Amino acid sequence: MLINRIFSGNDAVYGLTEKAVNDAVQANGADKAVGFPHTAYCLPCYYAVTGVKIKTLGELKEALGVVKSLMNREETLDNALMSGVATALCAEFIEALKYLDGAEPYQEPCYGHLADSIIRELGVPLVTGDIPGVAVILGSAPTAQEGVDLIKSYQAQGILVTLVGGIIDQAQELGLKMGYNLRIVPLGKDVTSVIHVVSVALRAALIFGNVTPGDAASLISYTAERVPAFVNAFKPVDDVVLAAGAGAIKLGFPVISNETENIEEVPGALIACPNVADFNKVSLEARNIKIKITKVDIPVAFASAFEGEIIRRKDMRVEFDGSRVDCVELVQTKTMDEVEDHKITVVGPEIDTFEPGSKHSLAYLVEVAGKKMQPDFEPVIERKFHNYINCIEGVYHTGQRDMFRIRISNEAYEAGFRAKHFGEVLYTQVKNEFEAVVDKCQVTIFTDPAECTRMRHEVGIPTFDKRDARLETLTDESVDVYYSCILCQAFSPSHVCVVTPERLGLCGAVSWLDAKATNELDPNGPCQVITKERPIDENLGSYEDVDEAVQKFSQGALEHVTLYSIMQDPMTSCGCFECICGIEPFSNGVVIANREYAGMTPLGMTFSEMASMTGGGVQTPGFMGHGKHFISSKKFMKAEGGIERIVWMPKELKDTVAERLNKTAKELYGIDNFTDMIGDETVATDPEVLVAFLTEHNHPALSMDPMM
Ligand code: SF4
Ligand code: NI
Ligand code: NI
Repeated sequence: MLINRIFSGNDAVYGLTEKAVNDAVQANGADKAVGFPHTAYCLPCYYAVTGVKIKTLGELKEALGVVKSLMNREETLDNALMSGVATALCAEFIEALKYLDGAEPYQEPCYGHLADSIIRELGVPLVTGDIPGVAVILGSAPTAQEGVDLIKSYQAQGILVTLVGGIIDQAQELGLKMGYNLRIVPLGKDVTSVIHVVSVALRAALIFGNVTPGDAASLISYTAERVPAFVNAFKPVDDVVLAAGAGAIKLGFPVISNETENIEEVPGALIACPNVADFNKVSLEARNIKIKITKVDIPVAFASAFEGEIIRRKDMRVEFDGSRVDCVELVQTKTMDEVEDHKITVVGPEIDTFEPGSKHSLAYLVEVAGKKMQPDFEPVIERKFHNYINCIEGVYHTGQRDMFRIRISNEAYEAGFRAKHFGEVLYTQVKNEFEAVVDKCQVTIFTDPAECTRMRHEVGIPTFDKRDARLETLTDESVDVYYSCILCQAFSPSHVCVVTPERLGLCGAVSWLDAKATNELDPNGPCQVITKERPIDENLGSYEDVDEAVQKFSQGALEHVTLYSIMQDPMTSCGCFECICGIEPFSNGVVIANREYAGMTPLGMTFSEMASMTGGGVQTPGFMGHGKHFISSKKFMKAEGGIERIVWMPKELKDTVAERLNKTAKELYGIDNFTDMIGDETVATDPEVLVAFLTEHNHPALSMDPMM
């Protein structure tokens, strides 16, 4: 019965797809290009399953035969699940046709296809458990309120929620704020749009997992073991939804539904749950997702889902703006008897007395004490404030140190949020996350302008200057140990980052000090000490100790890794890198692209395409993922000549790194304003124009030895 319904749903979708493809070929010809924007994987699901890239309508038509071959009608559960996969592939074909001719078929609030860069961005939050899972909600809830309550319950847990079908209208009807930044992503109203989340899961396997396209068995075990997704399907579950659900089950994603009549349960995979209010609990159990709960005593919600929330000027009650008035955020190490645990003090007026819409000074000083606390951990703790304060519903934080800006929304103010609650949030989070080094913590919030000025100029700035001076002296040569980071192994099983003072982790989020603190906080955790007592080649940055460590931490997948070369045994990439650089053969240089850059590079590839050249913990000479900060490092591909090799970067990235990069170029080679010699998209996106530009500006790479 269940099996026959899946077959019939699959047949129906296949019939529609066949017709749509034939019509499209008829209308546009077989050579017409087909594909999704901002992905290097063509039709990602079909490519992942079969290893074949579909680029034209003619190829799409041929691929229908392959899909048909998955549709075996002998009544076994496995054939039913494979028919689910066939249904998913059909959905991808139908969706791809919507994008013909560069069309933009999805309008607000719907997203449709999601770019590769979003998947890379999801890497770190998924491995740290910041995003503990991905929910796919499909259909219309019994009432809009029940639907919205379900969405919000996941959002409060940090789960990324994707929506398909009627639930989107229901959410809009009740005015729910949606968007990727709030972790609520409406995909589309047609059931076929569910493929856009499946596509994310399958691309994750290709990007992070080093799964060979076409190796369907590895693909399925990757999604089943490593992608914490599940489906909530509202009744009525018709044959088509059931067939799509079978595809999800094949990938290891359980389907939970309030359809209790025409459905047979499959234990652990297809689960009937009559009451929508129980969906959350049942789903998390079925997918074995554990939620870290932080209870903070404030009058608004506190959850990682609110991290990306933006407060517009018209919605804000007050603003604190370090670029206009004196603001500062600071952690200081004190002795045990100088700190009274959980003491929160506000110095100055509460925000009730502030004119609505006005701008003020704000300073907060977090004093910590603990036997294992070290001043080196102060900036590590401090850098988390951005995340802590952003997790408050209705509060928005950007920047850091004395250049931050905070907005409190009218809604949060009306719910009772006040300046003292910053103290509550900072206290709770610092104690939670740094319990291994922080025994006691007290927070002082300053709203008095004169006190803020004093805190900034007399306490904050001198501390930052001292820390910066310390960072300057932190070089790879000046320290005794490096650290490994294997956090990304949750997705990229053989990937290891070696983190040194001059080379931070490729995600951009783990500096040497961060790794050191992580090691101290959790000695058996992701960051382990790597000694550097047995150097092999200083120029390449190779060490016997490093090789042994990467061998061990990659379970033998890696033998040799150099720290400073992009050509010889380069460091691996997991997939979540901020930037990728690749060799540009005409100029003897390298091109760097950052994740935010969607345009073309002189390599004839976009960021996504360059990024697809490496990842999954594999070494790929000539391509290297790295953090933004690494671009101005004296160790950036030092073995090949260093930053002098950089010939092109997107303009925005160039502007971001200019000051530090120019400083390094001056120090290393005596070049002034090096960034003026580097091309960008406003100068050239093809190699000939680029080389002409470089020649005109006398770029040093042109006269260097060829890299290959
Ligand atoms: Fe992942 Fe490397 Fe960043 Fe660690 S340092 S989180 S392994 S990218
Ligand atoms: Ni000032
Ligand atoms: Ni990663």
